[in-house]
Amino acid sequence: MPFGSNVTEQPFNRHREEFPTLASGIHLLSHSLGPVPRAARNSMLSYYDAWEQHTSEDAWATNWWELSQRVGDQISRVLGAVPGSVQIQPNASIALSTVASCFDFRSSKRNKVVTTALDFPSMEYIWDARKNLGARIEIIPSEDGIVVPLEHVLKAIDDTTCLVALSHTSFLSSYRLDARPLVEHAHRMGALVLLDVYQSAGTVELDASGWGVDFLIGGTIKWLCGGPACGYLYVRPDLQRDLKPRLTGWVAHDAPFEFAHSPMRYARSVRRFAQGTPSIPALYSALPGLKIIEAVGVAQIVRESRRRTEWMVEFAVERGWQLNSPRNADERGGSVMIGVEDGPLMVTQLAERRVFVDARPRTGLRISPHFFNTDEEVREAMATLATLIR
Ligand SMILES: Cc1ncc(COP(=O)(O)O)c(C=O)c1O
Repeated sequence: MPFGSNVTEQPFNRHREEFPTLASGIHLLSHSLGPVPRAARNSMLSYYDAWEQHTSEDAWATNWWELSQRVGDQISRVLGAVPGSVQIQPNASIALSTVASCFDFRSSKRNKVVTTALDFPSMEYIWDARKNLGARIEIIPSEDGIVVPLEHVLKAIDDTTCLVALSHTSFLSSYRLDARPLVEHAHRMGALVLLDVYQSAGTVELDASGWGVDFLIGGTIKWLCGGPACGYLYVRPDLQRDLKPRLTGWVAHDAPFEFAHSPMRYARSVRRFAQGTPSIPALYSALPGLKIIEAVGVAQIVRESRRRTEWMVEFAVERGWQLNSPRNADERGGSVMIGVEDGPLMVTQLAERRVFVDARPRTGLRISPHFFNTDEEVREAMATLATLIR
């Protein structure tokens, strides 16, 4: 069978030698934990060196203080956003809570938040916890567990909606929502839009500025090949100064080193969405992966992802497997989900054959080729799966 129905492989540098983990087998886990870039070792050592060599607070002055902004600006390029629009966060859940804390649900009739059943659980937990602060939450169901039609989301947005908060690409099915019409409609209705792009950034083209989206949240550990605990929050530049997050801390102050008493005077930059001391090791761990992603280029990654996931979908459909992702590539992110009887068992059996994927309840196997995988690897992984699925 030809690899990809109408697109042929374009040779490009897959940077494979820069990922030592790839020697252990076929890594198709970028939706969960990307492989560590070899350069992360030196990056982490330079963090240690800075810590060891500075006997006073000057590690902050020479590098650490501006690192959040530097990494934030690197991430902004992946998001299709301008510099100064991304604040690093401890994780995506805190990024979401920071946005949630900007709203005063009791003082306005605009107190409804629209989300969907295909979102990561943090989404429901965080909004559920806002109910006793006056928030009304509408969770749009997914009839098939794969998609939530855009029309259903649009229909739920009314003149009491303050925020539409949902995944751009679902962690469960890789269903990808069309962001532009959603943002246009929500704005017409007077509502803001937050997209969780954790499963998009680094494998799907994003255009934060062009879409006019208000907030994006995510992190670097998956498709961006970074380490854990480096989340991020994008806030539309012309919206930033209107917002005063209640989930805050001294780093969000306009002049943090004044150590001033309250009231809080928020920074006049995206730093107003920070909280306390940034996770410096997480920032060091994120740098090498971001550099490689930029060197390969998101557009190239997207083309590759589409070519290979289309082939995987064809392969699955031809064999009558249960496809738990959309068939249409325009509605899909970088993963393909295959329903199997016993997901954890299948993950173990594949790992024994050096094919690394994972499984989630309700959806089955999650399989994600990234730029560093060869076509041969993708073919071999699917052929191996074919020997196990009955
Ligand atoms: C789409 C999506 N959102 C949020 C999260 C959770 O992110 P964090 O642990 O940084 O809060 C995940 C993690 O798997 C995810 O896939």
